[in-house]
Amino acid sequence: MKKPVTKAAIAVAVLLVVLQFVPVDRSNPPVTAALTPGGEVEDVLRAACMDCHSNETVWPWYSRVAPVSIWVARHVEEGREHFNLSTYGAAEARRQDHMMEEVIEVLESGEMPLRSYTLGHPEARLTDVQRELLMEWARGERLRLQAEGAVGGD
Ligand code: HEC
Repeated sequence: MKKPVTKAAIAVAVLLVVLQFVPVDRSNPPVTAALTPGGEVEDVLRAACMDCHSNETVWPWYSRVAPVSIWVARHVEEGREHFNLSTYGAAEARRQDHMMEEVIEVLESGEMPLRSYTLGHPEARLTDVQRELLMEWARGERLRLQAEGAVGGD
């Protein structure tokens, strides 16, 4: 008779194989109305945010292996829902303003980039200077929207 441990190991192995067949959406939809600040701001956004907050996701090899693939795809889907740099220009001014407000908040709190992401992407770990640069940029975007009369101030 097989030992219970062996049985459990076989069950896990079977489950892992079956999980590989769960469909995972790793598509990159078209970039339709990208926000392209250029310069260092764009470099930092690309290194630290755009894998989850744009339609230009670079899918790493481990995003092809379940169950990690399911988890990564979920992050990208949710990230794009909240703040997508590839479609930003098509959003209403109020929504853009709100997104920038959130950007400042998540940078201030250190919530973004997600820690699970910076573990595998050391280049995404923001220095204080980079964090401040992004916050300054987001504040500038909000001021620009206000100056255009698109939104009221706080
Ligand atoms: C590994 C994927 C990932 C990376 C990298 C990442 N985010 Fe996010 N982000 C998410 C997910 C998932 C959410 C939605 C869930 C949540 O709020 O935690 C989110 C939410 C947000 C929100 C909306 C917050 C809210 O409360 O509505 C903003 C703004 C944001 N991220 C900005 C950034 C910025 C700026 C960077 C880079 C400095 C970044 N994110 C990097 C995955 C990511």
